[in-house]
Order: sequence, then C-alpha cells, then structure tokens
Amino acid sequence: MSQARLKIEVARAALRYVEDGMLLGVGTGSTVNAFIDELASSGLRLEAAVSSSEATTEKLKAIGVKVMDLNHCGDLALYIDGADEVDAHRRLIKGGGGALTREKIIAGASRQFVCIVDESKCRPILGEFPLPVEVIPMARAFVSRKLTGMGGRPQLREDFVTDNGNLILDVRNIDLINPNQVERDINQIPGVVTCGLFALRPADKVLVASESGIETRG
Ligand code: 5RP
Repeated sequence: MSQARLKIEVARAALRYVEDGMLLGVGTGSTVNAFIDELASSGLRLEAAVSSSEATTEKLKAIGVKVMDLNHCGDLALYIDGADEVDAHRRLIKGGGGALTREKIIAGASRQFVCIVDESKCRPILGEFPLPVEVIPMARAFVSRKLTGMGGRPQLREDFVTDNGNLILDVRNIDLINPNQVERDINQIPGVVTCGLFALRPADKVLVASESGIETRG
C-alpha cells in the first residue's frame, strides 16, 4: 500500500473519535488534509473547528466547517493531528509543515490529542527527523549559537516564514534520549517561541497505519 493510501486509512480511522456537534482542533499537513477530506464525506457536522494553520483554515472553510479563534472557545474535546516522528511513549516531533507553535497551543488546550501517522513515522528514539524550532527573527543567530552549544546543528529553513511571522531552525544531531528535558531546555532559550518536541504534552492516542491495518497506541 502506498504511503498516501496509508494516510487516507488512518485519517478515516480517526473519524471514530469525532462526534456530531463537536468543537474540534485540527492540525496541519498531508495526513490532516486526508482527514479533512474524510470528514467532508462522513456526514458528521461539527459545531466548529479551531485550526493550527492558515492552510488548514482554508481547507476547513472549503468543506463548510466554521473556524473559530481559540480565544473564543474553552478547552477543546479533541485534537486531531499528524506528526513527523512518534516514539513508544507517544512523544512526537512535529513542525515539518512549520505549524508547530499553533499545534502545540491547540494540543495544550485539548482534553484528548489523537495523533494519526503511517508506520514510517515510528521510531525507537526521536531525532532522525531534524527538530524544528520556531524563533523570533532577531534571535536567529543567538538561538543558533545556543543550539550549537547543546550539540545540535541548526539550519535556517530557507524562504519560509511561519503563520506567526517567525523563522524556523531545523536542528540535526541533537541528543533526544531525554526529550522532556530537551524540550524544557530549548524552550527556555530567549527568542525561541517553541520547539517541535511534543514530549511534555504527548499524544493521548496514536493511530498507526500499516499494511496490516490500524494499530491504536494509548
Ligand atoms: C506540521 C506538522 C505535521 O503534522 C507533520 O509535518 C506531518 O505532516 P504530514 O502529515 O504531511 O506527514 O507537524 O507542522
């Protein structure tokens, strides 16, 4: 089965967590795009969605879903999003699409976070995928030096500005044996908005699509 097909299968599996009338958090990326397509043909009617990116907002509006500002909602019942890497503790690397900050805010504001991935995203230890770090533009060089001091090799994501007007440093070679501590350490560097580690607030459930079907973790 192709990776695109696996994304559709896991997107469809996520629908069983969605209920009519729900206020739903929606992530960003190709797996989430497949989820929005499945949502459109499911017959489910959301009250509204809170979106993690301009791209997702556009796609949700195109299928007739009302998109709300998080400031006008309480906590959300459910957040559905993909990931770049997942470990056995449901900790994640996210931000390949550059939406990590809004994604982390929505994950934090949601009672349940269901992460949807194909099996290519599963790792024994996080860190093969370069860790995205969103930085305030004036802090780019300073934060790069700090990340280098932590053993990382940061690289500016070329020709990319986040929906928040910031930059992304993609960091290779960072030791993620203790992702909770690394998440704290990176997030404390002045000028860092957030890093793409979702270790302190991992997913509650991870749905993994493979040739043999959908595995539910958590
Ligand atoms: C965007 C993300 C995405 O969830 C992540 O990049 C996975 O994307 P895809 O579903 O296209 O593989 O974190 O910021």
